[in-house]
Amino acid sequence: MKKIEAVIRPMKFEAVRESLEAIGIASMTVSEVKGRGQQKGVMQQWRGAEYVVDLFPKTKVEVVVPDGRVEEVVDAIAKAARTGQIGDGKIFVLPVERAIRVRTGEEGEEAI
Ligand SMILES: Nc1ncnc2c1ncn2[C@@H]1O[C@H](COP(=O)(O)OP(=O)(O)OP(=O)(O)O)[C@@H](O)[C@H]1O
Ligand SMILES: [Mg+2]
Repeated sequence: MKKIEAVIRPMKFEAVRESLEAIGIASMTVSEVKGRGQQKGVMQQWRGAEYVVDLFPKTKVEVVVPDGRVEEVVDAIAKAARTGQIGDGKIFVLPVERAIRVRTGEEGEEAI
């Protein structure tokens, strides 16, 4: 099992959710987060004062899937989240050691 952690533009979340649903992925954890990538902060002005914004609102989507589904899930997220502009986001793939469905005690791929 792998956890796919995608940090995407909030405005792209609906498209990502739909494209995951289209390939039969329903279970997910979603959080509103702040983050920064490789660019330095962006200068902004407010009432004449300049300040740097270097943490931007992002949406983090976490999905645990069997190893054999990683490629299609990564593709689905990447296609739906892409605008081609900087800040489109990032996808990380992490190993998952165990998964337990609390209600039934099922483990592993049965539980995800
Ligand atoms: N190496 C990293 N570690 C942890 N989080 C990261 C990392 N890189 C990106 N992120 C997260 O992903 C978000 C989006 O990153 P972003 O798309 O700006 O990446 P980037 O590497 O700067 O690419 P781009 O040049 O396309 O902007 C960041 O705001 C941050 O939350
Ligand atoms: Mg960036």
